[in-house]
Amino acid sequence: MKECKHLAIIMDGNGRWAKAKGLPRTAGHKVGADNVRTIAIAADAEGVRYLTLYAFSTENWKRSQDEVSYLMKLPAYLFRMYMKEFLQRNMRIRLIGDLRPLPDATRKVLLEAAEESEKNTGLSLIIAINYGSHDEILRAVNHYAEDIRAGRAEPGIDEAGFEQYLDTRDFPPVDLLIRTSGEERISNFLLWQIAYAEMEFIPESWPEFTPEVLHRCLEEYSKRDRRFGGVH
Ligand code: IPE
Ligand code: IPE
Ligand code: MG
Repeated sequence: MKECKHLAIIMDGNGRWAKAKGLPRTAGHKVGADNVRTIAIAADAEGVRYLTLYAFSTENWKRSQDEVSYLMKLPAYLFRMYMKEFLQRNMRIRLIGDLRPLPDATRKVLLEAAEESEKNTGLSLIIAINYGSHDEILRAVNHYAEDIRAGRAEPGIDEAGFEQYLDTRDFPPVDLLIRTSGEERISNFLLWQIAYAEMEFIPESWPEFTPEVLHRCLEEYSKRDRRFGGVH
């Protein structure tokens, strides 16, 4: 099968999945967090090397305080339940997004997971939290401008140089972007990094996204003809 080195997923539909079952939205988020473990293992077994998961956008602060505070506790739940297994499987936890506005406890748990796994060489499990592509690009631009002012950089940056300022500086471009739950939009996710990604918008919600569904998506991906602007 064609290699999908970097898979990115917009994990959408937790709320609707729960509502359809007569459960509160938060119940969907809990099942969604458990599914992070399932899909990380499955993606690793499929040969994916970088798995970027959209956990919380810069726009998700607009939700109710209860929902936001529940979502902010999920990293602690995820790592309490599964960190040991992530480590045993040689997985490395990595983070993108602006961590500064997160509650202190949330930021601490995330940074600890990243640090604890930093020597691992297997799957990079990249959590996008308080991530927004516009925010990431603006942080990069402002950082570059500061470097110029301080004499650390020259004006006139190229693509490779600019990528060094993005949160994703250590990762290859996205090969495949999947969005679950039927919505066909990007919602401010990895705009720079998906320039030539293949895209799949699938009807299943994130809690329904099983290893079998992942396999089907990767099979579909391997049938795509990626031309990158050239002619075959
Ligand atoms: C995805 O599910 C999780 C987050 C955005 C945090 P949603 O919470 O967006 O679920 P729907 O889209 O409302 O069903
Ligand atoms: C995108 O989903 C963000 C995450 C999955 C974390 P949303 O549910 O927030 O996106 P919109 O509002 O439907 O575009
Ligand atoms: Mg949604």
